[in-house]
Amino acid sequence: MRKEMAVAVVVLAGLLLAAGGAVYGAPGDLVFERKTEDQQGSESFPPSIFPHWVHRIQYRCYACHPKPFVMQKGANTISMETIKKGQFCGECHNGKIAFGPDFQNCTRCHTVPEE
Ligand code: HEC
Ligand code: HEC
Ligand code: HEC
Repeated sequence: MRKEMAVAVVVLAGLLLAAGGAVYGAPGDLVFERKTEDQQGSESFPPSIFPHWVHRIQYRCYACHPKPFVMQKGANTISMETIKKGQFCGECHNGKIAFGPDFQNCTRCHTVPEE
């Protein structure tokens, strides 16, 4: 009996792990690539990341796809200028819906992703 329980728990844990990937279905942390040389990130100031998972807690896919983001990595020309104008990430990251592009928040987006 005990052994059966243990097996059931292991199987269930496995199923949950498998479902974790399937349910969310979106890629994990995306790292934006800097497109021009003057935009190259440095170790102290890396490019922005975009954590799909964090956003999926509150939003469905269609909150962001196909607008404002084409569903393809690198297909959107996002810059700080457009964000500050309230486009792309700035539709939400404006200090109202979510934290805005102010100096105390730079490193919340510009950070090296966890392994
Ligand atoms: C809060 C906004 C947001 C939500 C919600 C969101 N995404 Fe995304 N998604 C993005 C952004 C930003 C990118 C990167 C676009 C870029 O690189 O220009 C992206 C990229 C993608 C890509 C391309 C990845 C690649 O490697 O080319 C896929 C696939 C994707 N999303 C699927 C989904 C699915 C499926 C969901 C719902 C489960 C979802 N997204 C929800 C913002 C979002
Ligand atoms: C909501 C997330 C977010 C915040 C907050 C944020 N950035 Fe960005 N930033 C981005 C994204 C996305 C890009 C475009 C992809 C890339 O180059 O990393 C970008 C691009 C950049 C670039 C490349 C050149 C450009 O203008 O596109 C620099 C430099 C930069 N950010 C500096 C900053 C500084 C300084 C702050 C704080 C005052 C800041 N960022 C806050 C998301 C953010
Ligand atoms: C549809 C609205 C929406 C869009 C679009 C959006 N975000 Fe967010 N984002 C949120 C909300 C809401 C949170 C969580 C609330 C908060 O922390 O203020 C969040 C959280 C984050 C976090 C987690 C920060 C932390 O400290 O845990 C990062 C990083 C982030 N967003 C980056 C981005 C980038 C980069 C883009 C554009 C490529 C983007 N987001 C587009 C709504 C959005």
